[in-house]
Amino acid sequence: MNNEQLIINNERVSFPDGFLWGTATSSYQIEGAWQADGKGESIWDRFSHTPDKIKDGSTGDVACDHYHRWQDDIALMQSMGMQSYRFSISWPRILPNGRGTVNEAGLDFYDKLVDGLLAAGIRPFITLYHWDLPQALQDEGGWENRATVAAFAEYAEAVSARLGDRVTDWITHNEPWVAAFIGHAWGVHAPGKQSYPAALRVAHHLLLSHGTAVPIIRQNSPNAQVGITLNLTVADPADPNNPADWDAARQLDGQMNRWFLDPINGRYYPADLTAAYEKEFPACMNFIEAGDMATIAAPTDFLGVNYYTRAVVKAGEGIMPEQIKVADAPHTEMGWEVHPDSLYRLLMRLHYDYRPRRLYVTENGASYGTGLDENGRVPDIDRLNFLRDHFHAAHRAIAQGVPLDGYFVWSLMDNFEWGEGYEQRFGIVWVDFETQKRTPKASALWYRDVIGKNGL
Ligand code: FCB
Repeated sequence: MNNEQLIINNERVSFPDGFLWGTATSSYQIEGAWQADGKGESIWDRFSHTPDKIKDGSTGDVACDHYHRWQDDIALMQSMGMQSYRFSISWPRILPNGRGTVNEAGLDFYDKLVDGLLAAGIRPFITLYHWDLPQALQDEGGWENRATVAAFAEYAEAVSARLGDRVTDWITHNEPWVAAFIGHAWGVHAPGKQSYPAALRVAHHLLLSHGTAVPIIRQNSPNAQVGITLNLTVADPADPNNPADWDAARQLDGQMNRWFLDPINGRYYPADLTAAYEKEFPACMNFIEAGDMATIAAPTDFLGVNYYTRAVVKAGEGIMPEQIKVADAPHTEMGWEVHPDSLYRLLMRLHYDYRPRRLYVTENGASYGTGLDENGRVPDIDRLNFLRDHFHAAHRAIAQGVPLDGYFVWSLMDNFEWGEGYEQRFGIVWVDFETQKRTPKASALWYRDVIGKNGL
């Protein structure tokens, strides 16, 4: 670290009054209880039970057993001074067959969770879809099937009708790019399909279901603030002197950022990419029906930003530009470059190019495996530094006028990291998966102070 960085890092900064600090999780990654109380099977249950899909052969069957330990987990958040908690609802707990009969026991679980959070002074942010589609819907084509949009509307209706009197903050989808492309083009996530045109179709139906759900939530939740969470990045050319690398950066920005930002902002799909896709896969955009783009552009109250790393790309052959690993740069155990300045760049870009009314960082965090030392503490200094530098980047963006209203650290606790299983730990709380004992790491204790001071 050079001197200049040290000075920046030691600078005292205060966040605006009312800035919201929290942590985030998702249902499949923490709840466990995969068959409890009438819950249906999800595509992640099916996928993780399929041999060779998850690196360590694990499943989310038990995960953090949060379904049974939610009261302790609320107490844990309270002990860390957490002001807000972003969690997702398991669709197959609510509608075991994806549509039709509502499983009241599923709704009861979230009802109690919400009441418990509110009683603890913690503001719940609900994500409706964080990837655990009911398997029954997948059996009918899943998100490739346009009928899944109507099923999502039923699900949004059931949840918002039950919780909308108390919950004010709603996120329709988490990272549709990941659900669509990693799940349907790369096959690394459930349902494990490998078809680019299928991924495009899925992305469209995810966006359409977002736009369809917005008015439903508003109707059931009079004070609702509704948004969507996207995984967004900054694309840089591997060689800034090579125009072809700049073009690759444009392409990656188009695929990951603009493909979602443009339609939700009423700008249709980006023309540079639709042309490229249709050249490669003739008629691949034929899923767009009259009225779809207006539905997708339903006005929202905020944009949720999940930021982990930037992308450095070089020109190549494939439809997806090749990303390179920057030598001599720090990386987390996921192999993701640590690049806080790109959070600043991203927030500025979003503010100037799209002008969302408000923004939240709905996920940011890092995987480091640092475990318990001989004193029973977890000295995860790498994570603490990572968060501190990203908080500074967010603060710089706020100082430049970006309406960033809150920040959710991923994640409250170590959990099931999708295809990576339990080998990647993102928590600010250590979880011993044998005993389910939770131990706040150094980063959690430090975060409590940040929240207490509303600054660094
Ligand atoms: C994001 C996901 C979240 C978690 C983090 C590390 O893409 O939304 O569930 O897996 O990455």
